[in-house]
Amino acid sequence: MANSVKTNTDQAFQRCLAPDCGATYDIGEVLTACKSCGGLLDIAYDWDQLPVPKTLREFEKKWSRRNEPLCRSGVWRFHDLLPFAPPEKIVTIGEGQTILAPSDGVAKYIGLNPGQLFLQYEGMNPSGSFKDNGMTAAFTHAHTIGAKRAACASTGNTSASLALYCGVSKLMQAVIFIGSGKISYGKLSQALDYGALTLQIAGDFDDAMLRVRQVSEQLGIYLVNSVNPFRLEGQKTIMYRVLEGLDWEVPDWIVVPGGNLGNSSAFGKAFMELKELGLIDRVPRLGIINAAGANTLYQLFEVNGQRWNDGDIDRGAAANYYEELDKSHRRASTIASAIEINRPVNYQKCLRALDICDGVVREVTDQQILDAKAQVGAHGLGCEPASAASVAGAKMLSAEGVIAPSDRVVCILTGHQLKDPTATVAYHTTDQDEFNRVLGSRGVQRAEFANRAVAVANDLQEIVQAIQLNS
Ligand code: F0G
Repeated sequence: MANSVKTNTDQAFQRCLAPDCGATYDIGEVLTACKSCGGLLDIAYDWDQLPVPKTLREFEKKWSRRNEPLCRSGVWRFHDLLPFAPPEKIVTIGEGQTILAPSDGVAKYIGLNPGQLFLQYEGMNPSGSFKDNGMTAAFTHAHTIGAKRAACASTGNTSASLALYCGVSKLMQAVIFIGSGKISYGKLSQALDYGALTLQIAGDFDDAMLRVRQVSEQLGIYLVNSVNPFRLEGQKTIMYRVLEGLDWEVPDWIVVPGGNLGNSSAFGKAFMELKELGLIDRVPRLGIINAAGANTLYQLFEVNGQRWNDGDIDRGAAANYYEELDKSHRRASTIASAIEINRPVNYQKCLRALDICDGVVREVTDQQILDAKAQVGAHGLGCEPASAASVAGAKMLSAEGVIAPSDRVVCILTGHQLKDPTATVAYHTTDQDEFNRVLGSRGVQRAEFANRAVAVANDLQEIVQAIQLNS
């Protein structure tokens, strides 16, 4: 979209992430990269001119006004910390009503002391994943500048979220790009049901991402992928709600799955700003967990030693790595389809987050992901495979001694349990062919925590016997 619109929010602007460039742009411009150097953009604020709360506890007052949509939203009740939009332009559908659930069962699995593990369940969002936090923010910006069509490439959750905001508000038409056969039925069904124009590209997420950038540029369609810096403003609020759930105490660790690296980048920015504003006195450490079959960040950060380096990033390292991937025809491949991504668009911003939060990156196998997912399910909320990477990663970090048993740890459960029933049913199945077809092909060999259905004849005596034998 070429046009630019002046907003009445003068204290917010867009700024290139690269310190040696630092170009700034009006909030009314629609950009997904710096026009000067091509780098990622941040939303920046002139905090001195803005009414920032003196303590985070001040946000509690919003609860008593939760009949007002902007106070009820788990994103917009923190509007003071993402003040880029005038209130009358905000599009909210009640996102962010999430819970921070303590789980001693999963804590034991990870190797933590009782009381030390919390699961931030983002599956409770209206479209069933954390994406709604970011979508309400990007959608609000799109509405502010008068967009009529909005697009994204997706592994399924971003598209479900965009489709939902379009369906509810009727302000825009959703155009979504998905890799054919690459998204779970739960997510595809949402896009179709909510009325999105759904383009199934013969390729994977990385292909779809490239195409949607070209198409949105050519047709002037508003792009809501997380290269859109407004998306990440909304996703900062996941961390505000984590702090709120801990009575504003900073935990020792935040552990999050890494795909396109939007969440981790947003979390880093959230803590950087809270620290600058004097609203917290320390930042937590960040654990970002890749699937082993889609491990670009792990390779570049842990193996190759790439660092933020005050913004002086070795730009060739990622390019060389991608060239290697192409040469060897290596595509991302994991049962955690949400994070089946080899070219994470927020890589550079994520390096900054790792720097701010003294972060570490780990890779976990599909076997580890599914076992962790079964444990999350067995102890309560359940989640989709990608989300369980956080728990599998925390277990790994605990086994290594990087996370101590006494550390207070928050794992982000990014998506709802019902998003991908195929993987769940295959894990618990008694049908070996089904297991091999869905999971065996991905190197999963066991289902240690399977809860198998009991087949029984339609006969009262046999049903009674089956119950007595199994309970
Ligand atoms: N977990 C879930 C459930 C996701 O859907 C995604 C990303 C991630 C984790 C990774 O988050 O990209 O911020 O590192 N899904 C995107 C999508 C790519 O299209 O729905 P990230």
